[in-house]
Amino acid sequence: MKNDTLLRALMREPTDYTPIWIMRQAGRYLPEYNDTRRRAGSFLALAKTPELACEVTLQPLDRFALDAAIIFSDILTVPDAMGLGLYFAQGEGPRFERPVRDERDVKALATPDLEKLRYVFDAIAMTRKALAGRVPLIGFSGSPFTLACYMVEGGGSDDFRLVKTLAYDEPRLLHRILEVNAEAVIAYLNAQIDAGAQAVMIFDTWGGSLSGPAYREFSLEYSQRVLAGLKRKSEGRIVPRILFTKGGGQWLEAMAASGADALGVDWQTSLGDARRRVGDRVALQGNMDPMALFGKAEAIEREAVRILDEYGSGPGHVFNLGHGVSQHTPPERVAALVEAVHAHSLGAHAR
Ligand code: CP3
Repeated sequence: MKNDTLLRALMREPTDYTPIWIMRQAGRYLPEYNDTRRRAGSFLALAKTPELACEVTLQPLDRFALDAAIIFSDILTVPDAMGLGLYFAQGEGPRFERPVRDERDVKALATPDLEKLRYVFDAIAMTRKALAGRVPLIGFSGSPFTLACYMVEGGGSDDFRLVKTLAYDEPRLLHRILEVNAEAVIAYLNAQIDAGAQAVMIFDTWGGSLSGPAYREFSLEYSQRVLAGLKRKSEGRIVPRILFTKGGGQWLEAMAASGADALGVDWQTSLGDARRRVGDRVALQGNMDPMALFGKAEAIEREAVRILDEYGSGPGHVFNLGHGVSQHTPPERVAALVEAVHAHSLGAHAR
């Protein structure tokens, strides 16, 4: 492995500089991504063709000196493989043909045959080969709760009325969905590790929409179950796990006890406060506002330095945005960020 800075930082080991990668680094802000996507015909065709998924995974690494690759896929591949019928309506985001709404739907729900997700594992194996040790490859999954949000709502939602109706009116049904999801996510992530993923991340994008007690009951509990079921080592090395709950800054202490090695932090949480609260229990990943990339290069550099300083000295920081990069971001701004993080952390922060 030529550059294992990410894996070291996730385990709170000293590094020469602060590593950086960017959520949604392979995506629509890159013209070359849009070209490949056009060639594939659709987002889903792109994600389901290993050669093309591998190609777009590598695209941001050819432009920027990023310290990790993340496999190009989507969290909704799992409910798709459960037979819910994922599709993308033009300009409307993801939708399911057969959402899970009542007792009958829940009874019919089962963990997917992993063969239906073979394209993800093939893309991982292919990408590992193409990377040839340049940087580590991150695998990922949605959290059981975030997957349940899409499965019950049938798509995105402003208020999560349907999934919260289940939580308050028929909690037994939601718990059953979450049990199936947790089991599916364990099998899915372990198969990604077997295929070559060197770190894994759980995206709990919507856990932050819950009240504190509901977060523990419906989200954290099941992410914890997943973390306990994951393979700890592969190829003779620990596979670090990252847990990211968007809007979860108020629960960092509980998340730090979940079994994750690192926590993703969004930009509404102060990284310095976060570090004081979790102590030396976990590494932290984050946390620049994705919209800060619409500033001038000097402003991006200033913001990067502010975040590095806020984390302070010592190991355990992985620089990232607090959520995915916007599709409207000019790629040169991402280049400015990666350069600034590397230049300003070299020797100063990460040891
Ligand atoms: O980070 C990476 O580069 C890896 C790729 C990745 C995608 N989706 C590609 C994608 C990852 C890690 C995801 C995770 C994902 N998908 C999450 C959790 C992370 C988050 O953002 O909070 C969620 C909630 C989804 C569900 C999903 N997939 C949505 C809501 C959408 C529509 C988004 C939009 O802006 O239209 C997708 C589609 C999707 N997944 C795209 C990409 C690059 C855009 C699709 C396109 O090319 O048209």
